[in-house]
Amino acid sequence: MSRREALRVGLLACMGAGCARASWADEAAGLLALISKAIPSSGEKIPAIGLGSDSFQTSERDAIRAEIGRMHELGGSLIDTAAAYGDSEALIGDALAALGIRDRMFLATKLTAGGLLGSGNGGEASFHRSLERLKTPRLDLLQVHNLNGVDSLMPMLQQWKKAGKIRYIGVTTSRTSQHGDLVEAMRKYPLDFIQVDYSIANRDAAANVFPVALERGVAVLANLPLARASLIGRAGQRALPDWAADFDVSSWSQFFLKYVISHPAVTCAIPGSTKVAHLEDNQRAARGRLPDMAMRSKMEGFWDGM
Ligand SMILES: NC(=O)c1ccc[n+]([C@@H]2O[C@H](COP(=O)([O-])OP(=O)(O)OC[C@H]3O[C@@H](n4cnc5c(N)ncnc54)[C@H](OP(=O)(O)O)[C@@H]3O)[C@@H](O)[C@H]2O)c1
Repeated sequence: MSRREALRVGLLACMGAGCARASWADEAAGLLALISKAIPSSGEKIPAIGLGSDSFQTSERDAIRAEIGRMHELGGSLIDTAAAYGDSEALIGDALAALGIRDRMFLATKLTAGGLLGSGNGGEASFHRSLERLKTPRLDLLQVHNLNGVDSLMPMLQQWKKAGKIRYIGVTTSRTSQHGDLVEAMRKYPLDFIQVDYSIANRDAAANVFPVALERGVAVLANLPLARASLIGRAGQRALPDWAADFDVSSWSQFFLKYVISHPAVTCAIPGSTKVAHLEDNQRAARGRLPDMAMRSKMEGFWDGM
């Protein structure tokens, strides 16, 4: 029996047994292999779909805890936050502590140079506040937010990495105008990760950033993979093309996310979501087959014609 037939039979059996929607999704996800990618500097593998958190609000504390718990159940692990994202770090730290899953998750946050805390001590206070709010003695990834103060902060990051307080170091941007500076930072510093804006509607990084990331062995987190939901809005009520099923896609979000993570340079996409249903949908993009290069071109053509 082919994998697709097995999936169909499994789903029909589950429907016949009156399974709830959530376990139906589990069934489908369970039959499709998890897509994980290696961090070039270590070989460690991480699931290819993470979670962005810049919209996390204290008023949605319970929903956030449920979302993080569900992500763990579905096999996801990377959560991206930042010292500058309001209460996001504290909400994530509380949720991980309550769920008892800190050591199973990959925590990435971002350092703010001085200004946020008014401390003027070049990001050190920001780092310690992140550790405290995330309730962890060690971060998996610490990134310089928007490349702001990268030259002055990088020696500190390298020192903290050496001391075992952080496992990986990186820098971020979400603006095409900073792609040149991002490339310069990759050439100048021994970065484990970069984070950059990339989606089917914004392909500049593929032309101007990814070749250097591949050459230098730097892992890539793709932010704004849904262009702040505008891709979903543009797809609207249109039906997915039939051929999307050939790479195990059943929603527009999965279509856009699989486009992003199928680029050989991309290690993990970090769609932001505040709803469990969105999280479940997005985590399905970390399962099954990926489009090959020919299919990626077809997806681009389809999108450009939409
Ligand atoms: N400079 C930087 O370092 C930088 C800049 C920007 C972003 N980032 C990081 O990248 C992450 C991603 O960016 P983003 O969150 O701004 O944009 P995004 O991931 O492109 O889009 C997030 C939006 O898409 C919606 N969405 C998510 N999954 C969906 C689904 N399956 N169906 C329908 N709608 C869905 C979300 O809605 P709901 O909230 O309602 O679920 C939210 O409105 C951020 O959270 C942050 O961690 C970093």
